[in-house]
Amino acid sequence: MEEKSYQLAAVIPAAGSGSRLGAGMSKGLVPLAGRPLLWWAVTSLFTAENLVVLVVAAREEERETIRRVLEESLPRPLPVAVVPGGAERTDSVRHGLEWLAAWEGWWPGIRHLVAIHDAARPFLPRELWERLLTTALEEGAAVPGLPIVETVKRVDAEGKIAATVDRQGLWRVQTPQIFGFEDLLAAYRRAAELGLTATDDAQIYEWTGRPVRVIPGVWKNIKITTREDLALAEAILRGREENV
Ligand code: C5P
Repeated sequence: MEEKSYQLAAVIPAAGSGSRLGAGMSKGLVPLAGRPLLWWAVTSLFTAENLVVLVVAAREEERETIRRVLEESLPRPLPVAVVPGGAERTDSVRHGLEWLAAWEGWWPGIRHLVAIHDAARPFLPRELWERLLTTALEEGAAVPGLPIVETVKRVDAEGKIAATVDRQGLWRVQTPQIFGFEDLLAAYRRAAELGLTATDDAQIYEWTGRPVRVIPGVWKNIKITTREDLALAEAILRGREENV
């Protein structure tokens, strides 16, 4: 991997409602083994040596709590910002990117990368993170994903099958997703002008016509959405402790 020839920033959108967990707080603050999900997500990102700045988008009423979580999770000193979240994930990420656009810590003359990572993904394995970085440096943009193995149906509002979707070539993508910072910022600005939102960052970037490399993700890099996901995350942690 290239050393010191690039700077890496991370943006974590952590302003989602977490309503499907029924926890009465945003997902990033929901505890897993006594630590908020955001703590786990931040800790896993810090294995990247060239990570130089972290921006977290938070709901207004949770900004102070999120700041405290960050203080507890940062294993080394680093510029950190907490920016306001938005109505959609796309707005939360854009606020983070705009903060980075005004950040004065970018060094001129080297590459600037940005990784966007969900607060609700506590288990980013180091080896996946390294593969993503290597790929993004080589190819410009990298996203982890897993091929869909189930049969896929489109289901109508009455719960009846409307169509069977050919699963050939269909992947479920994860985060972190890594892009050239200036390219992703431009794509987000354009999307905002057009009033477009997306459920991931690659979709915004794809609209520029640039290619995005998808590399094999790992199933453990789950996104916590429901109580069942949380139970699965607890089981993964127990397995780690028991070393199985
Ligand atoms: O809702 P979903 O599971 O897609 O959210 C993915 C990530 O985006 C979560 O970390 C969530 O906190 C964040 N998000 C956000 N602002 C929103 C909606 C979601 O920061 N308005």
